[in-house]
Amino acid sequence: MKKIIQILILSFIIWSCDKSKPAEKIVSKETTFTDKYALDTHSFAKPNEAVAKHLDLDIDVDFTKKIITGKASYHIEKKANAKFIHFDSKALVIKKVTINESLIDSIQRETSFNVIKGDQIHGDDLTITLPKNTKTVHIYYETTHKTEALQFLSKQQTADKKNPFLFTQGQAILTRTWIPIQDSPQLRLTYNARVTVPNNLMAVMSAKNPKEKSKNGVYNFTMKQAISPYLIALAVGDIVYVPLSERTGVYAEPSLIKKVASEFEDTEKMMLAAENLYGKYNWEQYDIIVLPPSFPFGGMENPRLTFATPTIIAGDKSLTTLIAHELAHSWSGNLVTNATWDDFWLNEGFTVYFERRIMEAVYGKDYANMLAVIGRQDLDEGLENLKDTPNDTKLKLNLNGRTPDDGMTDIAYEKGFLFLKTLEEKVGREKMDKFLKNYFSKHAFLTITTEKFITYLNKNLLLPNKIDFNTNQWIYEAGIPSNQVKITSDKFEIVMQTIEKWKNNEISVKNICGQDWAIQQKIHFIRNIPITFSAAHLQTLDAHCEYTSTTNSYIAMVWFEQTIKHNYQGSNVTKKIEHFLTNVGRRWYVSTIYRALKNNGRLKEALRIYKKARPNYHSVTVGTIDELLGFDE
Ligand code: BES
Ligand code: ZN
Repeated sequence: MKKIIQILILSFIIWSCDKSKPAEKIVSKETTFTDKYALDTHSFAKPNEAVAKHLDLDIDVDFTKKIITGKASYHIEKKANAKFIHFDSKALVIKKVTINESLIDSIQRETSFNVIKGDQIHGDDLTITLPKNTKTVHIYYETTHKTEALQFLSKQQTADKKNPFLFTQGQAILTRTWIPIQDSPQLRLTYNARVTVPNNLMAVMSAKNPKEKSKNGVYNFTMKQAISPYLIALAVGDIVYVPLSERTGVYAEPSLIKKVASEFEDTEKMMLAAENLYGKYNWEQYDIIVLPPSFPFGGMENPRLTFATPTIIAGDKSLTTLIAHELAHSWSGNLVTNATWDDFWLNEGFTVYFERRIMEAVYGKDYANMLAVIGRQDLDEGLENLKDTPNDTKLKLNLNGRTPDDGMTDIAYEKGFLFLKTLEEKVGREKMDKFLKNYFSKHAFLTITTEKFITYLNKNLLLPNKIDFNTNQWIYEAGIPSNQVKITSDKFEIVMQTIEKWKNNEISVKNICGQDWAIQQKIHFIRNIPITFSAAHLQTLDAHCEYTSTTNSYIAMVWFEQTIKHNYQGSNVTKKIEHFLTNVGRRWYVSTIYRALKNNGRLKEALRIYKKARPNYHSVTVGTIDELLGFDE
């Protein structure tokens, strides 16, 4: 008893001392405040001075002017003596900035700000003066036609051709072109949004979403888990929702919704497989929205709501690996996030590994092996493309002064995958899976640098198991280390044997297409058509296999590439290529075709088509193709 009283008295003394010495408390708070963040050369934010922790977005989407106007309000934390807070802002008009000195006090005071001009890659440094007790900052702004994140689509650019559409693309550093924000992946924040759109349209975000249209065009969103700025996303259009399971569902334009729902009916199975591997899904709901064909990516892992290209609606679920990929990002990427874009491989390499594990669990080993072999070939192509810049073949990058887009190559995806796959072979699956599961749960809702990952890997996998592994070589050196695992697929052996027979005239072309092949086998076959084969060979092949009129976008893309390489122009293939390029904006697809045209003496034709197609593309695709074709407006 005496002891308890002593402790109570002691605690009281400590407590009252504490109260009487506020200065000391602030000092200790400052020390926890500094040195917390990695250096991110792609953001003007100075989070060690002042950092935004929550966003309340209140915006209006104006389809006539093709702009967004509104207010971004932030709850901030700052060092006691911080005089400014820095935000990233690109192609925005900042109209006014106000502050509150308490979270409950509703009086806003105007404060001064300065838009310090940066450069073409990063945009500007929006510096806001902070009165001493600032708790909230309100930025009144509007977007301009120079925005890179937003694509406003006319009704002709949609599936139903009745209503306009809008979507955003934040990754890597484009969120700052539609919201003034501290746009570094390590600066996670929660958000609420109030979005006003035309009455007949629905708005959805990377947040808790409506399932029906509202009467007045006003939608309220909450994202209570802290996410990185590049994952804030919005889509607006004439869309409907269909649930697939209790926690999964799809959004699409009315004419597509049925097809979309059946294409993605295995989503819940994938989720169960993913959870079984690396732990509970942390975001409650997992939905997919199918966007119009100008969406520049296959998919984008916006939390709770994957954005997807319509080019994966093949009618036979053959392209749904992409869903496994975006779903896997719910762990690698969205839960455990690359701290800077130099650490991008931590997002994508882990996701490719995870994606293939999901596909293996749901569709079997053969399927996953085929994906891995295709990936291995992509990696070889990637290495070839980067042969003059070997530093870009390191997993850990240095993109200082360059656009993060430069780091978004097959290296992050496929060298990252190969590193993890090689590690798996070395330590065994059981240990690998236990390690990864713990990695995700230990770092949930945090961000991670490559260096922190290496420390974690050594401490939790390599040292305890006394395993010697050349981690540093894999991560910090160019090229692929020689201990890489060999990736093979029996299913592809069959394909290669068929090609041999074809070369030796031992199989009729009719029998080639007659085989019951998986999509990956067909892709592998087309990609490996002997380069010595003439246009006539392709003509015969096309007559039997009808590749030119395929409705599968992936087959179309690799086939078109081959027809260009082999100078085969029959069956209206040239027209088909033009149609494809003017209707699809998926960067990977269109860049593959434009590159083939350019490299095979058809640059002029490529430019003619591109001129026509360009207004339909999102800025991300425009940026890449402008550079590829040397296009100047
Ligand atoms: N997060 C990426 C898309 C991305 C990367 C956008 C870098 C902006 C910058 C997404 O998860 C992705 O990797 N998509 C791939 C598909 C995947 C199956 C390889 C794509 O779009 O092709
Ligand atoms: Zn990805």
